[in-house]
Amino acid sequence: MAKTCGRDAFWPIGSVPLLLLHLLSGTIPGNGRKADFEVLGPSEPVWAMVGGNVDLPCYLSPEISAEDMELRWYRDQPSPAVHVHRKGKDVPEEQMALYQGRTTFLKDGVAQGRASVRIHNVITFDNGTFHCQFNDSTVSAEATLWLRVAGLGSEPRIQVQVDQDGVVRAECTSAGWYPEPQVEWRDFQGQTLHSETNISVSPTTGLWAVASSLTVPSKAVSGLACSVSSPPFPEKKVSRYQLSDPTSRWFRSTAWKIALPLILVAAVLGVAIIISLLWKPQRVITPLYPDTASSKLFLFMDGKSVIQLIFSRKLPNDLGRFVSDTCVLDWEPFPSGRHSWEVEVGRRKVWILGMCVESLDQKARVPKSPQHEIWAVELYKKEHQARTFPRVRLHPPQPLYRVRVLLDCDADTLTFYSVDDRCLICTFSVPSCFVSLQPFFCLWTRDPSPLTMY
Ligand SMILES: *[C@@H]1O[C@H](CO)[C@@H](O)[C@H](O)[C@H]1NC(C)=O
Ligand SMILES: *[C@@H]1O[C@H](CO)[C@@H](O)[C@H](O)[C@H]1NC(C)=O
Ligand SMILES: *[C@@H]1O[C@H](CO)[C@@H](O)[C@H](O)[C@H]1NC(C)=O
Repeated sequence: MAKTCGRDAFWPIGSVPLLLLHLLSGTIPGNGRKADFEVLGPSEPVWAMVGGNVDLPCYLSPEISAEDMELRWYRDQPSPAVHVHRKGKDVPEEQMALYQGRTTFLKDGVAQGRASVRIHNVITFDNGTFHCQFNDSTVSAEATLWLRVAGLGSEPRIQVQVDQDGVVRAECTSAGWYPEPQVEWRDFQGQTLHSETNISVSPTTGLWAVASSLTVPSKAVSGLACSVSSPPFPEKKVSRYQLSDPTSRWFRSTAWKIALPLILVAAVLGVAIIISLLWKPQRVITPLYPDTASSKLFLFMDGKSVIQLIFSRKLPNDLGRFVSDTCVLDWEPFPSGRHSWEVEVGRRKVWILGMCVESLDQKARVPKSPQHEIWAVELYKKEHQARTFPRVRLHPPQPLYRVRVLLDCDADTLTFYSVDDRCLICTFSVPSCFVSLQPFFCLWTRDPSPLTMY
């Protein structure tokens, strides 16, 4: 039975409101019984994914045994309930049909007043408020819990048609979302595009489907990204569609049905042959992207280190190569997830490193600031600075030697750490990884020590 210590003689301050509650609700602790207890649950909503499992934990304060109590988890009304467990046994007769076969009582810790109900195969209808009631036949108390269900839908599917006048009609579809999803279109420069969206909900599953369409002149955009999310659940799904190349547009709009499979087969064969002829083992770990490197930069064989040359190399200024800035990009853009890498800046006197949008104009001299979709830190004139506008001076305990960069596409943050001091240097909030971001590095001085990426 419920045990509390010394309540007759002395009430701790905190128990007075509880007693008042009992007085108001008419459940005055009986003669000589010292059975007031509180039931507590998570103060924050509990998240669950559609199809997953979730535990709804509750516990008694003070820590008294709940073994002989009736424990009841319910939604709007106490009966029928989500799950009833009375004196050590489940009571399925009092269970709502919706929860039959979907719940498990977790009795670990029940002697200490802790218990949970696990809901299996979560459905959208589980979203909402729950109560857990602990009843020792004279006293009953309960807590309220909030369950937030999220359904992460399918990868958005983008279908594009380009007509003779060069007008792009694109449609993005995705299903399986909860709660009601939002769709956002952007071009590869990150600009939001106007679209029309139809949303529908399945009456049987409660899951939402979206179809969103837009029309743009093809000259206006180089590519389209469609992102679907169900706020407040932070995760989103993004699909991208490249439009920029007029030849490929022609293929897509007219002859692609015949030509594309042939071209693909030829391309795969061609690439396979080239790879088999040229692939050298060290290229496997090439992180820096030689085709983007300024002609004033020299990439070492391993592709991880870069120095500035005295003379420019003679290189084709093809698309993607830095022309005005002595910079280089990393090989991979990161559209989602968490990624980290380290860069040894060593004792170099001037450098910038960070991330930029994949669509950065490498021909122009772009100011290195978030306004121009570059998020970076630098060493310049012996000062470490965040390349915001205006710049913010940073104060690492000692000059940076090795920098760890962490891109978190879920939190939309880019964080720089000093590896040697294990301290945080600065954090940028990046708009989202909607537009793929990729690492970039610039060197401004001919310094014998290279900048090396790990
Ligand atoms: C889901 O439940 C939460 C409380 O847990 C509530 O705030 C929210 O409005 C519910 N969502 C929907 C779509 O009913
Ligand atoms: C608590 O349990 C007793 C007997 O088991 C029952 O009579 C009473 O109605 C219950 N109280 C509540 C609030 O459910
Ligand atoms: C949205 O619904 C309207 C009317 O039913 C329809 O004409 C339109 O094509 C739909 N749009 C999409 C993107 O499905």
